Amino acid sequence: MLEASVQDEIHGILRETDIPRKLHAAEHLVREQRFVGGATVGAGAPRAVRPGRPAHWTILPALEMTQRPDLQSPDGRFQLMHSVAHIEVSAVELALMAVADFPDQESGYYRDMLSIAGEEVEHAWLLWNRLGEMGGELGQEPVHLALWETAAAHSDLAERLAVVPRILEAKGLDVSAKLRGRLRGARDVASAEVLDRVYHDEIGHVRRGTHWYRTICHRRGLDPESHFIGLAEQFRSTRPIPFDRRGREKAGFTKREMEAVLGRELPDP
Ligand SMILES: [Fe+2]
Ligand SMILES: [Fe+2]
Repeated sequence: MLEASVQDEIHGILRETDIPRKLHAAEHLVREQRFVGGATVGAGAPRAVRPGRPAHWTILPALEMTQRPDLQSPDGRFQLMHSVAHIEVSAVELALMAVADFPDQESGYYRDMLSIAGEEVEHAWLLWNRLGEMGGELGQEPVHLALWETAAAHSDLAERLAVVPRILEAKGLDVSAKLRGRLRGARDVASAEVLDRVYHDEIGHVRRGTHWYRTICHRRGLDPESHFIGLAEQFRSTRPIPFDRRGREKAGFTKREMEAVLGRELPDP
């Protein structure tokens, strides 16, 4: 069971509009490792707490932000790193929501989700600093809250774990190699190295997501593979997508699950 004050603290971090303050508060919560004992949270549906952003930022619907930046230009590389930086801030919030929204789990679940939140904070700082080195700052480009909107739309824990680590974060694995290659091709090794580090950690996030997803499914008598396949089909892209089979295998995907994500058969390994 989750301690009620931890849930309140997380809601405060989600609402925080100042990004460095948000990240410091998340770091503090992760370091404390305080989640059980004391007055616990009552049962009930997760409360959707919209994440705070500075008032001067431009927040657009994701559908209006489909332009692909040109990585041959410094501005395009900045736009790419800016969007990754905002994804990492959102990922901190999603990992904390995985704690606050599901107050009746075992301590091992909270320990894993908080350790993921801690790594997301590190990623957010890495990207924050990289934007500074590139001569800009987070918030100078428009952002969207689609990750939060998608997570908040899935208030069932098995679905949340299928959708957040296994669909959204796993998509990040798919695109990573190509982006890192293009950054190196444009001689932006510093940005590529930041994304190398993030990629390595994200495999661990998806793997831990897979572990808890399967644990929750088994506890409920759900078949994890067919439950995942049903959801993955709803998220399938109609365009050809890059696909990181090796990374996904390391993160625990079965061949049938990967085929559901791709919408086509894969050769045997
Ligand atoms: Fe991350
Ligand atoms: Fe992650």
